[in-house]
Amino acid sequence: MHSTLPIEHDVSLQAFNTFGLPARARRYLRVSDPAQLDGLRQDPEAASLPRFVLGGGSNVLLTRDVEALVLHMAIPGREIVGEEGDAVLVRAGAGENWHAFVDFTLSQGLGGLENLSLIPGTVGAAPIQNIGAYGLEIKDVFHSLTTYDLASGARRVLAAADCRFGYRDSLFKHPEGADLVVLDVTFALPRAWRPNLRYAELAQAAEAAGLADPTPRQVSDLVVAIRRRKLPDPADIGNAGSFFKNPVVSAAQCTALLERFPQLVHHAQPDGSEKLAAGWLIDQCGWKGKNLGAAGVYPRQALVLVNNGGATGAEVQALARAIQDDVLARFGVALEPEPVFV
Ligand code: EPU
Repeated sequence: MHSTLPIEHDVSLQAFNTFGLPARARRYLRVSDPAQLDGLRQDPEAASLPRFVLGGGSNVLLTRDVEALVLHMAIPGREIVGEEGDAVLVRAGAGENWHAFVDFTLSQGLGGLENLSLIPGTVGAAPIQNIGAYGLEIKDVFHSLTTYDLASGARRVLAAADCRFGYRDSLFKHPEGADLVVLDVTFALPRAWRPNLRYAELAQAAEAAGLADPTPRQVSDLVVAIRRRKLPDPADIGNAGSFFKNPVVSAAQCTALLERFPQLVHHAQPDGSEKLAAGWLIDQCGWKGKNLGAAGVYPRQALVLVNNGGATGAEVQALARAIQDDVLARFGVALEPEPVFV
């Protein structure tokens, strides 16, 4: 029997992952309407296939062709849906481009998302790893999201506590959330907005620009300028942003490291642990600007691995391993990749 859904076969995923890696999908479905997911469960060809959910492809490392059915989330829509207390609720479909959505909220006169400007990827992928930058994480402005359970077909609205947000982590990265697809996300944006300039580099940029009391749009412009200066644009150089999470170690381990490496960059966490700057650790091992085949370490930020043109996922993976080995040997710290490996 044949599928009644517009499933495509042998589709290149190169343009659908920001690393620009050459992997193919054996079967591929562009999901622009949640009803297609109901269709999937009843489809004779597709019902029993394993699935792989793809958003903007900005947090995956495709090391090989994908055997599972690729569900490419393209659900559109963005609208102001109501108010709650002092906040305006704004919802977007999972397939919306993240930065375009941030820009939309700013154009509506709403602040709250500006520190997360220019992060690559989609709205639906943003809560999966609780994206964060310049002193803000998505959980800080999150209201709720709608999930679709691929196993049961049930739709559920989840609040922040249900999503179990952590540093670059959520329910959706764990086995309990494996069957859940994000359909849309709602944000609570404060009417009484104040700029969040807690991140030192952002505060310095505001001061240098003479902005004592910046607007949300002005903060967004500052964040965009910082990112453009430090991070490669995936349109020019393939990459997936930070390739490793900043490792969290015990206070005792941090103290011991500081004795040997007084310059160690570390930030105390509320629970007493210490977050180290992975970029600094990698930089100290001499990897900044180094290449392994066509994969490399970005010369302006050691935390970002890049595709210098024609790299395979296996090459990026080999580079990542070599970096992990060196950092472990020198500092005794294990680096954990941020992207999902396929
Ligand atoms: N550092 C170095 N060498 C480097 C890179 C960094 O010594 O090559 C040092 C810096 O001097 C600084 C420290 O490491 O003292 C931290 O660097 P930075 O402030 O640039 O931020 P980061 O920790 O490298 C994190 C996020 C970024 C986010 C920025 C800004 C993670 C894994 N990364 O980077 O997120 O934009 O903070 O908030 O948490 C992403 O996840 O894709 C991403 C870009």
